[in-house]
This record gives sequence, structure tokens and C-alpha cells, in this order.
Amino acid sequence: MMIEILLLNGPNLNLLGIREPDIYGAVTLAEIEKRVTMHADGYRVKVRTVQSNHEGALVDALHDARIWAAGVILNAGAYTHTSLAVRDAITTVALPVVEVHLSNVYAREAFRHTSLIAPVCIGQITGFGWRSYLLATEALLAHLNVLP
Ligand code: DQA
Repeated sequence: MMIEILLLNGPNLNLLGIREPDIYGAVTLAEIEKRVTMHADGYRVKVRTVQSNHEGALVDALHDARIWAAGVILNAGAYTHTSLAVRDAITTVALPVVEVHLSNVYAREAFRHTSLIAPVCIGQITGFGWRSYLLATEALLAHLNVLP
């Protein structure tokens, strides 16, 4: 049976490529989703992608993933720093989640230094631009014992 993972992106990430490219780079979310999908396909892992600007929709996507996903790659955007609801959704579904950020949140404003979700994720990848997502894929698939 083929393993499936969820690539879940939060608010404002739909505008990647246009949004503050000095910080987040020029690659669009559609392109990142394609690159992750192709990378995972090399390990015969299928990727489903969801993006929402709404906190509750991220909670819904995590709940839905409980039924079919082996794990989640999550860039919760600004909700990383504020959302108890997203954090609680992660513990509720009890799936392995890798937290990912394009920018190095620790090199930025102090309010980005706290992640409410980090303690309930298996780990965090931050600061490598779009490649953060590839590294997160490697980390999740290693955790799932999918890597050779
Ligand atoms: C981000 C970092 C967050 O602080 C910010 O609110 C984002 C993007 C990143 O990928 O670097 O929306 O998650």
C-alpha cells in the first residue's frame, strides 16, 4: 500500500513568489508543492496538498488527515506563533508533524521566536527557503522509515 502524507500550508503562503520575496524567495507555492510531490514520488510516497488562510480550515485539514495520512509537513505561517487550536489539533490527531518555515524565524522579530506547535511536532526545519520543504520531507519520511 502506498503511503500518503499531507503538505499543509497556512495563511499568506498562497502568495509565495509575490509576497516579500527578499524573505520568502521567488518560488510559488504551486511550484513548491510540485517539487515536494516529485521528491516524495521518488520514495513511492504520495502527497496531498492543502493551503488555507483560515485557522479553522487548518484544524479541519489535520482532522481529515487522521483518516488517511501517515504524517504531515506543516507551515502554519503566523498561526505558528499564536494558535492553540492548531497545536491542539496536532495532539488530537496524533500524527507525526514536521514544522517547516522558509525563513529563519529565530533571526527575525522576537514574536516569531516562539512556536506554539514546536513542542508537539517531531521537529522543526527553518531558514532554508523552499528547500526547507524538501528537508522536511526527508525528515518525515525518515521518521516513517520510508528512506532506504
Ligand atoms: C513563515 C514564518 C512565519 O513567522 C510567518 O508568519 C509566515 C511564514 C515562514 O515560512 O518563514 O507566514 O512560516
